[in-house]
Amino acid sequence: MQLIQLQPAPASIVDAVPGVKRFHIWTIGCQMNEAESAKAAALLRQAGYVPAVREWDADIVIVNTCVVRQQAEDKALGYIGALARLKRRRPDVRIAVTGCLVTGQERRLAERFPWVDLWYGPSEFERLVSLVPELADVDIDLVELPHYYDEGQADPEVTAFVPVIYGCNFVCSYCIVPYRRGRERSRPVEQVVAEVEKLAARGVREVTLLGQTVNAYGHDLPGQPDLADLLERVHDVPGIERIRFLTSHPKYFSDKLIRAVADLPKVCEHVNLPVQSGDNEVLRRMRRHYTVEEYRERIARIRELIPDVTLSTDIIVGFPGETEEQFLNTYRLLEEIRFDKVHVAMYSPRPGTLSARWPDDVPREEKRRRHRAVEQLQERIARERNERYVGRTVEILVDGLARGRWRGRTRGNTLVFFEAPGDWRGRFVEVRVTQASPWYLLGEPVTVGAAEPAILTR
Ligand code: SAH
Ligand code: SF4
Ligand code: F3S
Repeated sequence: MQLIQLQPAPASIVDAVPGVKRFHIWTIGCQMNEAESAKAAALLRQAGYVPAVREWDADIVIVNTCVVRQQAEDKALGYIGALARLKRRRPDVRIAVTGCLVTGQERRLAERFPWVDLWYGPSEFERLVSLVPELADVDIDLVELPHYYDEGQADPEVTAFVPVIYGCNFVCSYCIVPYRRGRERSRPVEQVVAEVEKLAARGVREVTLLGQTVNAYGHDLPGQPDLADLLERVHDVPGIERIRFLTSHPKYFSDKLIRAVADLPKVCEHVNLPVQSGDNEVLRRMRRHYTVEEYRERIARIRELIPDVTLSTDIIVGFPGETEEQFLNTYRLLEEIRFDKVHVAMYSPRPGTLSARWPDDVPREEKRRRHRAVEQLQERIARERNERYVGRTVEILVDGLARGRWRGRTRGNTLVFFEAPGDWRGRFVEVRVTQASPWYLLGEPVTVGAAEPAILTR
């Protein structure tokens, strides 16, 4: 297990702002967790709390966990373990743990970590009331205002995640998510639109619609609207300039959805379509419900209808029984498709899933080798893909400062940094790309005449 240390304890614990209560949130896992932590933060602010950079200064600490791989689970367990010391020194601190670690495990966890005051499952915000009585007066469904923290200061976000469908109806043999997030539940179109309108009013310019299988959206709603219909509705919200969505399942990536991305100007030309493996036998044992040929055909269609689209995918290496030849099929698929971004993970058996009953027979060293091979291949491909931007001008939305440089993303979701005086946050900026790396681009804002930045404020 990983050893997690809290930030060093201060020599003496003093309440910096007497009478004001403070919260600290620790998050690991997917964008759904980020969205839920943002919502918890918004709720606590509504209840009068302010953020604390360090656990030591907080009146309530919320831990948002993930168990998708052993490594994530170990990190969360290590952090919860480290909080024992905080609780010993400050018995008045309230500790709440949420996220996928908790579902169905409360009793077992409570025995192991008695210093935790509350265990609550994903989205069960109403249960926070027992630790934060002030929340009794807050309308939980109406608080959807994310904030970001920058050195203790909180500002409204420029971009926001909006969950649109919870849970997952697939049962991929390696995956624990359906056991911890349950069956699919779509939020009604009107509720999503109302939330996006509220975000736009707060200054948010870009929304990412979230779901474990976001393109399954709507089949459980009256009238069965689909993701393309939802995109069209969100597209009408004034103030929102960019729309993204995550994560899609290849089985449901319909022509209608591809056309929506192609035709709706605000929907960004970026598709995240996890393939997991490039070998049909492995895909069958993963219970993915598509073949490599079907996947390839979808990608070809996407590229045909959305010119200049950027593509990302997820890969698992070292799945039970994965032979060298089967791994090479994945490797060759990556060489063939040339994704802009690949998230690669070493297979990690998750108790309770189907594949956990099969021998985890690819040795750790071999998993590492395959992982490295994919990373090295992808580093080369991503560099070549990104180099096509050098000399071109791209439009980015600046979402913040990172180590003295302004940071933004292109419509294709590529990271771009530039240096310039002034405050560029929340602005659409035309940047001429001067340098490319596999992970980001460097550039300079396009200037008109003197030093006047050409800013596309909308
Ligand atoms: N719903 C998405 C992803 C869910 S989990 C999809 O269908 O692709 C996010 C990523 O974690 C997955 O894409 C997969 O690559 C990885 N993952 C999930 N379970 C895993 C496991 N047991 N071991 C290693 N990686 C895993
Ligand atoms: Fe897990 Fe598969 Fe559902 Fe994705 S589609 S969340 S990998 S079960
Ligand atoms: Fe992790 Fe749960 Fe997300 S297991 S990846 S936090 S859905």
